[in-house]
Amino acid sequence: MNTYTANQIHLISRPSGLPTAENFKLKKVQLDEIVDHEILVKNIFMSVDPYMRGRMREDAVYAQAYPLNEVMYGGAIGEVIETLDPNFSPGDIVLNQRAWQDYFKGTGNELTKINPFDKNNISLYLGTLGMPGLTAYVGLFKFCDLKPGETVFVSAASGAVGANVCQIAKLKGCRVIGSCGSDKKSSWLKEECGVDEVINYKTCENLTEALKAASPMGIDVYFENVGGEHLQAALDCMNPFGRIAACGMIGSYNNALPEAGPNNLMLIVGKKIRITGFIVSDHADMKEKFLSEMIPWIQNGQIKSQETITVGIDKAVEAFLGLFTGQNFGKMIVKI
Ligand SMILES: NC(=O)c1ccc[n+]([C@@H]2O[C@H](COP(=O)([O-])OP(=O)(O)OC[C@H]3O[C@@H](n4cnc5c(N)ncnc54)[C@H](OP(=O)(O)O)[C@@H]3O)[C@@H](O)[C@H]2O)c1
Repeated sequence: MNTYTANQIHLISRPSGLPTAENFKLKKVQLDEIVDHEILVKNIFMSVDPYMRGRMREDAVYAQAYPLNEVMYGGAIGEVIETLDPNFSPGDIVLNQRAWQDYFKGTGNELTKINPFDKNNISLYLGTLGMPGLTAYVGLFKFCDLKPGETVFVSAASGAVGANVCQIAKLKGCRVIGSCGSDKKSSWLKEECGVDEVINYKTCENLTEALKAASPMGIDVYFENVGGEHLQAALDCMNPFGRIAACGMIGSYNNALPEAGPNNLMLIVGKKIRITGFIVSDHADMKEKFLSEMIPWIQNGQIKSQETITVGIDKAVEAFLGLFTGQNFGKMIVKI
């Protein structure tokens, strides 16, 4: 058994507004030899996700705040290097929640072995086959009452969650309208993912008008990832008895102070719209069914994935911050 030096990213101060590099510190930590049933893992890929911004707040809403001056955590995929747990072997590929570090000592109960169907694509288990893919699946099938022929509007449509929402809704026979922040993302959604209409919200003159033009029959389902102006436009265009899966509102995550919301919320009453917030971690029971559908969809080329891979743990903060300016095209991953 050996000792290892781990590179870890610690949160050292709580950001106000958009985080900066000064809120984080790369630290080297000496790991002792493993003992008892411990397992030494080397992370290969880690995920950066918008929800991590919420955990940087003192008053994190649905999850514990990251403690200051400790390594942060989140989804990662690693390889077992050494193990004293007989249920694991060196070389096992394991999903874990110990991101933001290259090496760590863990125990079997915090590691899930994965047997990737394609060994060249294990990062998919942080994206399309992982938490974001499951989020799309849960949101659509548990909270949207999706029916073939309906119109679905998806914000942050080219992102890790959004791209899966768009493609699953297409597979279920819906008409899909996406919004995203670049023409490159827009072309990919249309040409590769079969999305019917895409709005570049950064260049369109008026989002509500653009959405009205894209949805002459109105919108039946809105998959909400952004909030603010997107929610306002969706409410304006929704049909009676429309459903909104409130997945996230990334547009507000870096607001230092709350900002005024949409001014048309009364439409929820008049149109009898159902809005349901959800958190994917409450729906782990759907994971098996999700994988049983998603793996064949990927293998058959029915679901496409995009990834932006940043290399180096020292670039993880940069990758995370890039989520808030749309630097990612698809799932943002850090290769460690
Ligand atoms: N409820 C849950 O359990 C759950 C689980 C996972 C994710 N989520 C939520 O789902 C949403 C998408 O997450 P993701 O992991 O798929 O991230 P992502 O879409 O891969 O990355 C974030 C994207 O959001 C867009 N964006 C950033 N700031 C924006 C703004 N101010 N206005 C409009 N668009 C903006 C950017 O794309 P553009 O280039 O298009 O601007 C960026 O690429 C987030 O709100 C996240 O919190 C919720």
